[in-house]
Amino acid sequence: MYVPFARKYRPKTFSEVVGQEVAVRILRNAVRLEKLSHAYLFAGPRGTGKTTIARILTKAINCIQPREGEPCGVCENCLAVDKGSFPDLIEIDAASNRGIDDIRAIRDAVSYTPIKGKYKVYILDEAHMLTKEAFNALLKTLEEPPQKTIFILCTTEYEKIMPTILSRCQRLIFSKIEDGLIVENLKGICQKEGLECEEKALYLIAKLSDGGMRDAVSLLDQASTYGEGKVRVELIEEFLGIMSQERVRELLLMLLNSEVDRAIEFVRDATRNGYNLVKLCDLLEEEVRNLLLYRSLKEPEKVMRVEDFHRSLKGVSLNALLYVEKIINTIREDSRSRDYLRAFELAIIKTQVLKDVLSIRELLNQITTPKAQTEVKTQEVKQEKSDPFKIFEGKLDTLTLETLKRSRWEWVEDRLVFYLKEKDLTQEDINKIKGIEPRVDFVFEAEEEEPAGLPPFAEKIRDMFGAKVVSHEQRGKGKGSSSPSA
Ligand SMILES: Nc1ncnc2c1ncn2[C@@H]1O[C@H](COP(=O)(O)OP(=O)(O)OP(=O)(O)O)[C@@H](O)[C@H]1O
Ligand SMILES: [Mg+2]
Ligand SMILES: [Zn+2]
Repeated sequence: MYVPFARKYRPKTFSEVVGQEVAVRILRNAVRLEKLSHAYLFAGPRGTGKTTIARILTKAINCIQPREGEPCGVCENCLAVDKGSFPDLIEIDAASNRGIDDIRAIRDAVSYTPIKGKYKVYILDEAHMLTKEAFNALLKTLEEPPQKTIFILCTTEYEKIMPTILSRCQRLIFSKIEDGLIVENLKGICQKEGLECEEKALYLIAKLSDGGMRDAVSLLDQASTYGEGKVRVELIEEFLGIMSQERVRELLLMLLNSEVDRAIEFVRDATRNGYNLVKLCDLLEEEVRNLLLYRSLKEPEKVMRVEDFHRSLKGVSLNALLYVEKIINTIREDSRSRDYLRAFELAIIKTQVLKDVLSIRELLNQITTPKAQTEVKTQEVKQEKSDPFKIFEGKLDTLTLETLKRSRWEWVEDRLVFYLKEKDLTQEDINKIKGIEPRVDFVFEAEEEEPAGLPPFAEKIRDMFGAKVVSHEQRGKGKGSSSPSA
């Protein structure tokens, strides 16, 4: 008979448990030193080893020949627990037995001494699902804990356990299991099962399982069946209906470049081909998050796998990434009130803002003037220098801002120089700009196709300054206007 991997590879001893070091250590020591609590609460995410460890503890305290706090695994008590036939282990699933009757049963039963072992053990799975009455009945029992009886409450929802119960339990918090540890465990299973696996595929499984070992092991089980003994990335993507990383990254680039048409076509296509948009959204989020980590950390290698893809996007502005991350996040929320595809499309449309607000130059970090590029020293300066308009955003009227954006500009040392036509800006505009950022200069160039007769003042200015950098003050004088306030 086929035994699913998740059952077949359930750890039988403390040392076989992956992760959960703190819980394992506390319990092993408690067994070794015979300092057991009357009640434990195991709280943590699904499939991370709560029930498994509760059973190992049951074996360890009832084992006929325990060693160093570990169950021997071969005595009749250990075997009986493994088989599920140990009379002193009572497992109650609170999710399906929510009534007070079950708790009464517990209360009655605890008055009996263990039948075969040293301790009677009650494992209350999904303890947060107990009714209030049941909780109260349990509380009574915990207030006067019977001899040789141990309660193990397991829950995925710690906050739902009443404080009065919590205070009577020793609480052990289980955590999500790290990807690296999951991959190691999966590798071991592949070896034992004679499966041919790609390491990348195991990482994909770990990522999809979000720290839950049960999900990871089950997924490996399904993937290897689907791939007839081969565990490959493409096969996993295929049978789960998730998109390949390459395609996900393609979409991400579309979002960063505000290629709205292409991106919308992309997700519509994905839906038509039966791809799961929820998963696509998760994967997209993961890609942006990694890019953000890569961009923000000094040593990103420590927390992520840095690939050429990340290096190639070194120049994308942090703001653009943060914005896209935010937009992707809104998809899930938006999808509560509308269809997922629509929420996705709305998010794509929002990326248009990137084009409108953040300059393309910044997105690609192609600094226009070669001079500015050589002057750039640190990343921060580079960023500010690549998008001088940010300084003025929200502070200037759109028309003036647009005029500046359309003009040629460059950094000269620390000063920002705009090359404009005389008619582009009024003195008032200039005063305003200088008020926002005094280190700005204007160079007024001659109109190319201007007829011979220039307005007198323009001619005068050209004669006076030519294409020289004109500081604000000089310009003020040149134009004969009153000295503007800085
Ligand atoms: N820490 C772990 N180390 C190794 N395998 C694990 C671990 N946690 C879970 N597993 C695997 O997942 C299966 C289910 O684990 P278990 O029943 O202990 O999870 P749980 O935390 O009780 O989950 P739930 O909250 O859903 O009840 C185990 O049979 C085992 O294959
Ligand atoms: Mg469980
Ligand atoms: Zn034993």
